[in-house]
Amino acid sequence: MDNRLFIFDTTLRDGEQVPGCQLNTVEKIQVAKALEALGVDVIEAGFPISSPGDFNSVIEISKAVTWPTICALTRAVQKDIDVAVDALKFAKHKRIHTGIGTSDSHIKYKFNSNREEIIERAVAAVKYARRFVDDVEFYAEDAGRTDNEYLARVVEAVIKAGATVVNIPDTTGYCLPSEYGAKIKYLIDHVDGIDNAILSTHCHNDLGMATANTIAGVLNGARQVEVTINGIGERAGNTALEEIAMIIKSHHEIDIQTNINTQKIYPTSRMVSSLMNMPVQPNKAIVGRNAFAHSSGIHQDGVLKNVQTYEIIDPHDVGIDDNSIVLTARSGRAALKNRLSILGVDLEQEKLDKVYDEFLKLADKKKDINDDDILVLAGADRSQNHR
Ligand code: KIV
Ligand code: ZN
Repeated sequence: MDNRLFIFDTTLRDGEQVPGCQLNTVEKIQVAKALEALGVDVIEAGFPISSPGDFNSVIEISKAVTWPTICALTRAVQKDIDVAVDALKFAKHKRIHTGIGTSDSHIKYKFNSNREEIIERAVAAVKYARRFVDDVEFYAEDAGRTDNEYLARVVEAVIKAGATVVNIPDTTGYCLPSEYGAKIKYLIDHVDGIDNAILSTHCHNDLGMATANTIAGVLNGARQVEVTINGIGERAGNTALEEIAMIIKSHHEIDIQTNINTQKIYPTSRMVSSLMNMPVQPNKAIVGRNAFAHSSGIHQDGVLKNVQTYEIIDPHDVGIDDNSIVLTARSGRAALKNRLSILGVDLEQEKLDKVYDEFLKLADKKKDINDDDILVLAGADRSQNHR
């Protein structure tokens, strides 16, 4: 099986649907260029029929970006596809992402339809989109809750109709990793013509399993993952790009490559957080403020002896330069000595002991001890050269 994993970023479509996160076109272009520099393969730039703003953003992003494929979302409706084709006219590489709900509840309550009619509508949409573009992705919305036998029939029919990528969304974030992985494997084992298309994961995080489900999908043969920066997205969000990129990079036994330049992860995360006015939780994996911060004395001592004791990722690999040792009331002398040394202050043992006693008193009162506090305690200041 091919070992290239395609990264499909939907920050500007699924991510941007979050209330309060809307971006204007200029901001979306800024994010799209950052995603290009990060190395994503596909940028889902919007849902053109949904609003003039989305339509215009797809046009402008198509002009601004060179390498990644620009993707536009549609329902399985001809008018949606016509508008998407128009919005993609300047894209150097273009994809239409069309689809329909396939679970029994979607078929019954959303479409008041039946399984056979849904397959007909899916096939018609894919065939119609293929008249305009060579690259058509089909999504089986709520595939997570669609029974595997019927899902396999849908997937087989849309591949036969010309779909190049088939997306298996766990729209409600309900699947267990074992179940989602088995679903991908079932499709690989049971769909005729599966080699003519790439299977894609698209997982939501309602039960905190989006990343685990995505990895289960990849381990079972999916070769595209749909992700967002910082995991933003509807409700509890989508699978976080940074988590997938770093899992693939650090677990060599998975033997899969992405095109992500991981050192651009942190700056891109900061950019998206600030433009979307969406703070990143401090303990968020990979990009949270505390993701590489060692605060207990035992851990700090270990890390100062050898980082491998408590670090599985070098923070520089994701573009973080800061010192990862956070000084708190639980820090030991070694951490204080190390921080002072970075600041250019080398103290004799006796003086260090005194400064450490003062440091503990201050740390009991103050949550964040910063470099200036430490320099004051050591009787130094930033302007002096202590070495
Ligand atoms: O979660 C979902 O099912 C989606 C589709 C529209 C791809 O976002
Ligand atoms: Zn989604």
